[in-house]
Amino acid sequence: MAFLSDTLSRVKPSPTIAVTTKAAELKAAGKDVIGLGAGEPDFDTPANIKDAAKAAIDAGKTKYTAVDGIPELKKAICAKFKRDNGLDYTPAQVTIGTGGKQVLYNALMATLNAGDEVVIPAPYWVSYPDMVLLAGGEPVIAEATADTAYKLTPDALEAAITPKTKWLIFNSPSNPTGAGYTWDELKALTDVLLRHPHVWVMSDDMYEHLVYDDFTFCTPAEVEPKLYDRTLTVNGVSKAYAMTGWRIGYAAGPVELIKAMGKIQSQSTSNPCSVSQWAAVEALNGPQDYIAENNKVFQRRRDMVVDMLNAAEGIDCPVPEGAFYVYPSIAGCIGKTSEGGAHIVDDEAFATALLEETGVAVVFGAAFGTSPCFRVSYATSDEALREACTRIQSFCAGLK
Ligand SMILES: Cc1ncc(COP(=O)(O)O)c(C=O)c1O
Repeated sequence: MAFLSDTLSRVKPSPTIAVTTKAAELKAAGKDVIGLGAGEPDFDTPANIKDAAKAAIDAGKTKYTAVDGIPELKKAICAKFKRDNGLDYTPAQVTIGTGGKQVLYNALMATLNAGDEVVIPAPYWVSYPDMVLLAGGEPVIAEATADTAYKLTPDALEAAITPKTKWLIFNSPSNPTGAGYTWDELKALTDVLLRHPHVWVMSDDMYEHLVYDDFTFCTPAEVEPKLYDRTLTVNGVSKAYAMTGWRIGYAAGPVELIKAMGKIQSQSTSNPCSVSQWAAVEALNGPQDYIAENNKVFQRRRDMVVDMLNAAEGIDCPVPEGAFYVYPSIAGCIGKTSEGGAHIVDDEAFATALLEETGVAVVFGAAFGTSPCFRVSYATSDEALREACTRIQSFCAGLK
């Protein structure tokens, strides 16, 4: 009898975490490594949020809470949905988990039966397909290409839907491309969903607040109110409030689904960290002005990285609307050989040679389902980004 479960053989470890770990190991071994793999802001958590957490500890708010979150945070989340998205939710329609990741996982665990399909637009966040597989479902990948700036077209969505489709996972702005859907682009997708009443939408709005230029964020239940009863709107404090380590994510949707998700959580992790929940209350209810301040920094870095990458031979980098990633194509580098003698047969070979020969760590596109590309996270200092892009330029110049 095998000791490890069959389910385990269906999934792979997160490639983005693997890159971050490899870069950290090389650094620890004394190599000059610049990691552009991490999916977290380099800013510190704002002081008012840390103070709220300290106050919660001092007030003894250190015990178990209700499994799916304290009433104060649910109230703050309802107010956030109304304020930012024009969506009306009651506390009974809200669930809070240990990061957006757990909330997404709970939703899939609570709803998928063997053979149920989940449409995932590619390029996708690395965890979606594996979470679907862990929950016993079948990921159906709907490709978005560079021609549409990596945004899913209505035709591609239509083609991916079958009678077995349970969910569409929608993510805007996107990890890994940074692509953000305009109202009209999203409306074209929700129009397709109206024709398929058995399909639900899981909208991962994690990067809602990280948008640049004059881009306006929108979310499916807001764009098409007729989808409200079959939409789970997922969000969290990790990215906008630089709170990745605090592990608070949340979602709102129909009560029956929210209850089912709470049931999964009650038999796995129980409540998310009590102190972090109080910190999240302050994040959502407190001042929001530093988000715009941080975005100015992110936008400046995005512009510099896009310009420098487009100046590298063989690289073509679109300008994304949001998040803190760019997703350049390296089609012009494929088939060449690096100065160190590596054959650039695909984007994994490119990323490996880049790390070994220049010390720059990026995540290869195949990990996100679309090649030949790589993802750069620009959530790191201007100096590190400038140096990394200079090294990428000379690596590309050396390709023969
Ligand atoms: C698209 C997307 N969704 C969800 C998450 C999960 O965020 P967290 O679990 O930190 O709330 C991430 C984190 O990288 C992400 O990029």
